[in-house]
Amino acid sequence: ASTLGAAAAQSGRYFGAAISQSHLGDSAYVNTWGTEFNSVTPENEMKWDTVEPSRNQFNFGPADQIVSQARSRGMSVRGHTFVWYQQIPGWVNGLNGNDLRAAISNHINQVAGHWKGQIYAWDVVNEAFEENGTRRQWFVQQRLGDGYMEDAFRTARAADPAAKLCYNDYNTDGINAKSTGIYNMVRDFKSRGVPIDCVGFQSHLGQGANLSSYQANLQRFADLGVDVQITELDVGGSGSAQAATYRAVTQACLAVARCTGITPWGITDKYSWRAGDTPLLFDGNYNKKQAYTAVLDAL
Ligand code: XIL
Repeated sequence: ASTLGAAAAQSGRYFGAAISQSHLGDSAYVNTWGTEFNSVTPENEMKWDTVEPSRNQFNFGPADQIVSQARSRGMSVRGHTFVWYQQIPGWVNGLNGNDLRAAISNHINQVAGHWKGQIYAWDVVNEAFEENGTRRQWFVQQRLGDGYMEDAFRTARAADPAAKLCYNDYNTDGINAKSTGIYNMVRDFKSRGVPIDCVGFQSHLGQGANLSSYQANLQRFADLGVDVQITELDVGGSGSAQAATYRAVTQACLAVARCTGITPWGITDKYSWRAGDTPLLFDGNYNKKQAYTAVLDAL
């Protein structure tokens, strides 16, 4: 196959990109997305501060632009994200107890409902663990306790039963304290029937990343009965070292039957959120980098 999406499809996987509505006027950006990729994650447009800037006032327009282009091209869409401690509007921070629970539930119901049947997988909860494997002590955790997470998954399941429901996090690129904390939560959810279908591994990496237990980590989650996905891949660096890290991540996903797809966090270094790290597969002029060839060959 001669494109990333077609190569991934040979093994039944998708190959996506994070896309920003603000760049949809750049024809090289849109063309590269349409040619090379067969899935998308809106980079910011489905986050709480964008979709519900005031309580129960919804702004779906920016993400709708991405979703409609994706659907017209037959791409799958990853929804990102319902419950996260960042990019959350200020009004949520003023709430407590049942009022806070109701706001989270309404947020999930309205947003999941808007795109019901159109989302392959939702990142229901994002980045809710500390590096030491305990729950992140952000205000929702402090006010509602551990239960906010399973409540979010149950609400999302009812709102869009066809979407796979994921937990998503970073610095989980091997067997470590953080990934083990998440692993224990997923095992607990599965044993109690809390609806969870997948775990996302963001994989914001540097070219020297130690990936010695990367595949084994994906596999131990898969063995719990969930899919795994590489959801926000980018690798700071350049040349053959960067390419080797991209290759290793791709090979690890391909080696795990339940690893269903890979999404780099953008297309071109020109627009990466990691300015200066040149972490993506296309350079600032949309030329394919060594990392691109390494991934295509590994798929
Ligand atoms: C980043 C976006 O890429 C930036 O444009 C934005 O300013 C901040 O958020 N983990 C996540 C993503 O789950 O949502 C973040 O995206 C990167 C880290």
